Amino acid sequence: MTKYVLAIDQGTTSSRAIIFDKSGSIISTGQLEHEQIFPKAGWVEHDPKEIWDNTREAIGQALSKANITRHDIEAIGITNQRETAVVWDKTTGVPVYNAIVWQDTRTQPIVDRLAADGGVERFKQKVGLPLATYFSGTKIVWILENVEGAREKADAGDLLFGTTDSWVLWNLTGGTEGGVHATDVTNASRTMFMDLETLQWDDEILAAFDVPKSMLPEIKSSSEVYGTASGHSLLREVPIAGILGDQQAATFGQAAFDQGEAKNTYGTGNFLIFNTGTEIVHSKNGLLTTVGYKLGDGETHYALEGSIAVTGSLVQWMRDNLGMIKSAEEIETLAKTVDDNGGAYFVPAFSGLFAPYWRSDARGALVGLTRYVNRGHIARAALEAIAYQTREVLDAVNADSGVPLTELKVDGGATANNLLMQFQADMIGVPVVRPVVAETTALGAAYAAGLAVGFWSDLDDLRSNWQEDARWEPSMDKDESERLLRNWKKAVTKTLDWVD
Ligand code: G3P
Repeated sequence: MTKYVLAIDQGTTSSRAIIFDKSGSIISTGQLEHEQIFPKAGWVEHDPKEIWDNTREAIGQALSKANITRHDIEAIGITNQRETAVVWDKTTGVPVYNAIVWQDTRTQPIVDRLAADGGVERFKQKVGLPLATYFSGTKIVWILENVEGAREKADAGDLLFGTTDSWVLWNLTGGTEGGVHATDVTNASRTMFMDLETLQWDDEILAAFDVPKSMLPEIKSSSEVYGTASGHSLLREVPIAGILGDQQAATFGQAAFDQGEAKNTYGTGNFLIFNTGTEIVHSKNGLLTTVGYKLGDGETHYALEGSIAVTGSLVQWMRDNLGMIKSAEEIETLAKTVDDNGGAYFVPAFSGLFAPYWRSDARGALVGLTRYVNRGHIARAALEAIAYQTREVLDAVNADSGVPLTELKVDGGATANNLLMQFQADMIGVPVVRPVVAETTALGAAYAAGLAVGFWSDLDDLRSNWQEDARWEPSMDKDESERLLRNWKKAVTKTLDWVD
């Protein structure tokens, strides 16, 4: 009987379930979007209950579309938006507050307080990350300090924290009836609390943040059996055998297993991950050091990461907040109505600027405007912003590694946008390459789970699944691409020092 692996992709805008066969092809998909809650400027929340309900429904959709049942599923993999923090009561299973999303900047005062003693790089040597609102650690502190009764409950050992992988895993394995409270090394490496060498929670950092260790999930590898789905689930008794944060999952799904391989994902934000093998490399150019993957008892693979907060979400913002387009895809048609940006540059520093700047005091700006500029130019400026930000991150990767990348493997929704992909190749001066299965995030989680249960035998098995689908060659004159980049960098300077 043909068997499959099911991946749950709990992302920033939706929760999905995707069923893969042995060749890595998609059999069926279930997907539900959840509400983006913006209570104040700079705040972004999700309702964890909605996320869990949607996850269950997405699983049901995927199974029924494929006309299969749990008996056909060999293993479940989980991948997730990283850093988004959920804190819940372990006896009731009820979250004490909404999930605070990775894009949320409310914890800047907590960042400043912690950085007052030793600067933003205070813990960087150990955890690979600068102090920033992006990571989960300060979000937990905010909940403990601002939600009534949370501190007391946490000190009494009654609260649990998790990124959304842990939240889904705990619920899927039974919740209050024996749910497994665990995470994997890649998600743990985004909290600020995990020592990159020992792969354990660091007591000294936890003391500095005043976060009780009892709240934290157990850190496991990215590929092992964590537990089985509970009796309440459509997938009951199926092992959950893989967890990878979504960007690491996409890297794995792109078969970028070895040192020197890289990928760039175009999602809500953009994330370029460069595999540094078993070596922990500290960036001199504004990149993060993070865990790439660890399979069972195998060696830990590390990576350098260029995280860009706002790329696809800029297009969503133009759709939802400005009503300039009806669907995200329409941006390409609108951008094609003009030949160039007409002098306009759009810096979407909505959550401050991430790599390589790490300036949380930045806010978005649209500059270079004249009466000549129309909707088409603004659409184009938005797409170009995605490519300029990637160019800056790629420059940092090349500088850190000393060996320039000769092509860029890409994935994610916006890789369907030809105008953007061509402009991207023009801006980086090397080919941009997309695989046949562009759902590399879910595929990576499926791979991690399938490896743990023997569905796939080894990494070579997975490598042979990778196939090229499209390639964009750079064709722009170098003087022109450098001129555009200079203007972009000038536009970036206009966004800094905006927040006091
Ligand atoms: O670090 C944030 C990242 O994991 C979110 O990815 O694809 O949900 O926007 P995505």
